[in-house]
Amino acid sequence: MGTARGFGVDIGGSGIKGCPVDVEGGVLAEERLRISTPQPSTPDAVADTVAEIVAKFGWEGPVGITLPCVIKNGTALTAANVDEDWIDTDAQELFAKRLGRVREEIVMVNDADAAGLAEMRFGAGAERQGLVVVLTFGTGIGSSTFLNGQLVPNTEFGHIEVDGRDAEEEAAASVKDNLELTYEEWAPRVSRYVRTLERFLWPDLIIAGGGVSKKAHKWLPLLQTRTPIVPAKLKNDAGIVGAASAAAQHA
Ligand code: BGC
Repeated sequence: MGTARGFGVDIGGSGIKGCPVDVEGGVLAEERLRISTPQPSTPDAVADTVAEIVAKFGWEGPVGITLPCVIKNGTALTAANVDEDWIDTDAQELFAKRLGRVREEIVMVNDADAAGLAEMRFGAGAERQGLVVVLTFGTGIGSSTFLNGQLVPNTEFGHIEVDGRDAEEEAAASVKDNLELTYEEWAPRVSRYVRTLERFLWPDLIIAGGGVSKKAHKWLPLLQTRTPIVPAKLKNDAGIVGAASAAAQHA
């Protein structure tokens, strides 16, 4: 386990979680702090919460921050499961100002890309070559895509069309919860989703992440897909770890 530290914040529709991270070992360095996402989850309100979390740990260095949005050059271009005011917000600038940092000390990453970076570096994807897709099953479905370990940022495979509907409306973990589906009832939806994805993309490996991956043994064996699927290793901490290591690398 290493000693170099970074700081990651994972912004989701229901909670904002942050913590110092051991960026050599890929583990949280302290107990993480979670604060409910302010409603409405406007950029200013969320920035206040992020500042509160960073201040609680007395952290002074660079900060990696995730959003459930497509992010280019620090600007959010979409907003799924967060307030629409995020669209076209220069999030990197917003957080730099609110946290009293220079722009370069803030690294913005899509939430699924952050989780994928952590899995590829420290988890189920370590040393894996070829085309690897990490899917996070939560409120929505996030995706991150790696070719020979290199991230192709901002893939949005949660929004491919499956039987005429947005995939995440059919197969996200939140659908399982909202419709009170058993794993046996939910798994065919996930299979259908992955098989549709496989018509366009031929991954060598899929890593299944998100909170529901904690119970992977209950549903991964039920899936019928062409691509081998393995559970994520970092579970709920992947976003924080990925964001922190992205920021530590840029600093
Ligand atoms: C968003 C993605 C995000 C995923 C998981 C999707 O609805 O479009 O950007 O990664 O949800 O939060």
